[in-house]
Amino acid sequence: MSELVLLKHINHPDSTNIEYYEKTGGYQGLKKVLKDYSPDEVIDIVKASNLRGRGGAGFPTGMKWSFVPKDDGKAHYLCCNADEGEPGTFKDRLLMERDPHRVIEGMIIAAYAIKAQVAYIYIRGEYSLSIEKITQAIQAAYTRGYLGQKLADTDFSLDIYVHKGAGAYICGEETALLESIEGRRGQPKLKPPFPAVSGLYDCPTVINNVETFVCVAHIFAKGVDWFTSIGPKDAPGPRLFGLSGQLKSPGIYELPMGIPLSELVYNYGGGPVTGEFKAVIPGGLSAPMIPASGLDVKMNFSDLAEVSSMMGSAAVIALDETASIPVVARRIAEFFSHESCGKCTPCREGLHWATKILNRIEHGHGHPGDIAQLEVLYRNMFGNSFCALGVGAAWALGATLKHFRHEYDALLTQQSIPVSNRSSK
Ligand SMILES: Cc1cc2nc3c(=O)[nH]c(=O)nc-3n(C[C@H](O)[C@H](O)[C@H](O)COP(=O)(O)O)c2cc1C
Ligand code: SF4
Repeated sequence: MSELVLLKHINHPDSTNIEYYEKTGGYQGLKKVLKDYSPDEVIDIVKASNLRGRGGAGFPTGMKWSFVPKDDGKAHYLCCNADEGEPGTFKDRLLMERDPHRVIEGMIIAAYAIKAQVAYIYIRGEYSLSIEKITQAIQAAYTRGYLGQKLADTDFSLDIYVHKGAGAYICGEETALLESIEGRRGQPKLKPPFPAVSGLYDCPTVINNVETFVCVAHIFAKGVDWFTSIGPKDAPGPRLFGLSGQLKSPGIYELPMGIPLSELVYNYGGGPVTGEFKAVIPGGLSAPMIPASGLDVKMNFSDLAEVSSMMGSAAVIALDETASIPVVARRIAEFFSHESCGKCTPCREGLHWATKILNRIEHGHGHPGDIAQLEVLYRNMFGNSFCALGVGAAWALGATLKHFRHEYDALLTQQSIPVSNRSSK
């Protein structure tokens, strides 16, 4: 893809100023929306764009908006999910810090479409610069009349509030996020009802990711045809890929959906730091790793599902030949165990025990039945966890066993142990 769109302005020193944003075409899409389209027409346009959410599950955005009941007499809410807690993911931060008005414009268009008069942006608490830039952008948008009462002489009014997260990964899960905004402990709720029908304060609520809103702003500025001309038909548009781990050129790359994973990690990521790649995690830590032999797969929802992995947040974490997979697995288990909200037993207890077992295997004290025990734990967590945290953790951990069983066996039988990323415990 030759022309950068999502990242086009990020290196300009004035990229966060509203004057610069307007001068370069910003808020024109919103003006067009308020002047020419009804809320339903906006939803139809987003449906036609085939935009799929950039937060993890890839749900079609226009379809999600269309689930909000019409004329139900209730308040409607919009939430931007800027919690960005998935390890390996750091794209939303860049957008908020360097192009905050694009996020705000996308949110205003979405709020108009679903008839929300109040919107929240839930930002990871550690992201102080994002919080600062987004807060400044919201204030500037009020002064220019893009937020507030009766926008552009319509009956549409909108206020946006910033809500800071307090460091819990689970608060990125949409129902936990809403609980947290309401001042309760961040724990997932049963679905259905889905938030689009009963969300914040039991009212219809749409939750989308930061990059999803940025795509919405670009769709209304550049058109549906532009968006659908990029990448595969069933999942079009530009996407931000966050490359990290053991590769030479980590960073954020804007590329079309559907690019082969091998091209990402070799051509853009610069190849492995040492020797060859061993495996790549394609979509954040919850996504099952793909061994080096499978790197031809295309970075698309359907292609990744075929190889039993997922696109997730498009956070690509590379592991080269110096990585010990059982050690990586122990770190995965430790992270998810720490972040488990504790609501359901399979996830809370399963991750605790998986961490313990993986720790003893790593340090040469494994028992002969440990692998079988881990398999039972992962199966139970996968099938019985209440939310996607437990399911994702079990899936990601299961993949380390599926593809690299020999490394576990080597540790259990005290053969050669790859040590580069072993902890000193
Ligand atoms: C444990 C967990 C953490 C999540 N964290 C995030 C997050 O930080 N940001 C995000 O956009 N989505 C996150 N999600 C996905 C959200 O629940 C939701 O699907 C997403 O915000 C919807 O936005 P989209 O339709 O634009 O992708 C998380 C899901 C789970 C299960
Ligand atoms: S799966 Fe884990 S994070 Fe999700 S509800 Fe159960 S304990 Fe909480």
